[in-house]
Amino acid sequence: MRRIRLGRTEAEISAVGIGTWAHGGPKSVGGHEVGWSGHDDAEAASAVLEAYAAGVDHFDTADVYGDGRAEGILGGLWDQIPRESVFLASKVGWDPGPYGQFYHPDLVASRLDRSLELLRTDHLDLYYLHHCDFGPGDERLDPVLEVLARAREAGKFRHLGLSDWASEKVLRVGRRVEPDVVQVYRNVLDDQYVTSGLASWVEERDLGAVFFSALKHGVLLGKYGEPVSFPKGDMRNGITEFRDPEALARFARCRKAVESRLSEHPEPVLHALIGALLGQKGSCALLGMRNRRQARAAAQLGQALTAEDAEWIRTIYRDGPKTADSAGFAGSARSD
Ligand SMILES: NC(=O)c1ccc[n+]([C@@H]2O[C@H](COP(=O)([O-])OP(=O)(O)OC[C@H]3O[C@@H](n4cnc5c(N)ncnc54)[C@H](OP(=O)(O)O)[C@@H]3O)[C@@H](O)[C@H]2O)c1
Repeated sequence: MRRIRLGRTEAEISAVGIGTWAHGGPKSVGGHEVGWSGHDDAEAASAVLEAYAAGVDHFDTADVYGDGRAEGILGGLWDQIPRESVFLASKVGWDPGPYGQFYHPDLVASRLDRSLELLRTDHLDLYYLHHCDFGPGDERLDPVLEVLARAREAGKFRHLGLSDWASEKVLRVGRRVEPDVVQVYRNVLDDQYVTSGLASWVEERDLGAVFFSALKHGVLLGKYGEPVSFPKGDMRNGITEFRDPEALARFARCRKAVESRLSEHPEPVLHALIGALLGQKGSCALLGMRNRRQARAAAQLGQALTAEDAEWIRTIYRDGPKTADSAGFAGSARSD
C-alpha cells in the first residue's frame, strides 16, 4: 500500500482509506433512504481488521452512519489495532438531533463528545464538517467554528476537515473555514473537483484531499448485468445508474476493456477507478470495504495511474469503450 503525506497535516497515511458509511446499516430519514442494506456488524469489523492488516491505516466514519453504529464498531477494535497507529476521522452535520437544525452549536459540541465516547478515544485526528450548508449567508458558520476552535484547543481533535458532495460549495465555504483537509465526491464520471477550481485551491494551500465514492457505491465496477433494486433503507435505490440498463451495459463493457488493458494488475478495475483519482500529491481515496474479500483487494491498490491512462479511463466511462480499447495494453501504473 502506497503511503501519502496528507497535505499540511503532515500525517503519513495509506493512499486508500476505509470508509464506514455502509457499516451503519440500512436507514431512512423523512422518506429518504440514506443507509446501506446487507450489513453485518461482525463482517464489518473483520473488514476493518483485514484492511488494517493490508496496510490501511486511515479510518473514516461519521456520527450519522447508523446513528453511531459505525463509530461503535471501530471503537470496539482497539484491543486488536493500536489506536495510535490509525489516522481516525469522523464528521458532524447530517443529523439535526433534537435541535431542528444541522449545525446548532450545542449539537456540534455534544456530537463530538458522543463520537469520542463511541470511538473510545480521547481525540480524533481529523474532524469534518460533513456538508457546507450553513443557512442563509452562511449565518450558522461562525458559531460552529467557535465551538470547534474551543474543542480543538481542548485536544478533542487535531485537524479540521470540510466535506460536501459539491466541490464548488467546499471552495466557497473553505475560504472562511480554512480547513486542513477537504473530503469530496469524485470518480471517473465526475471531475467537478478539478473543474470547480477546488483542486488548484487545495494544491496552492497544501491541503489534504480525500475522495469518496470512487466506485460510485459499486456501480462502476460493471458487475451488475441487470437493473437492480435494494432492500428498504439502502441509498443505492436513489442512484439512477443502478436502474439504467444502458449505463449498466456500458460499465460492463468498460470492465472488460480495463481488464484487457490493465491485465497485469491483480485488481484491474478497482486499480483503474481509484488510481485515476490519485495523480495529485496529498490526495487519497476512501473505499467502502464491507467484508474481508473487499479489504484484501484493497491491499493491491493505491498506485496512481499515468495521466494518459487516467484520461483513457474517464473517456471510456463517459463515451463507452471502442473495440480497440479492449485490445492490448499500452499504459502502466505509476509508482511514486
Ligand atoms: N463526506 C461525505 O459526504 C461522504 C459521502 C459518501 C461517502 N463518504 C465516505 O466514503 C466511503 C466510500 O464511499 P461509498 O460508500 O459511496 O462507496 P464506494 O467506495 O464508492 O463503493 C463501495 C461499494 O462498492 C462495492 N465493492 C466491491 N468491491 C469492493 C472493494 N474491493 N472494496 C470496496 N468496495 C467494493 C461494495 O458494494 P457490494 O458489496 O454491494 O458490491 C461497497 O459497498 C464511505 O464509506 C464514507 O466513509 C463520505
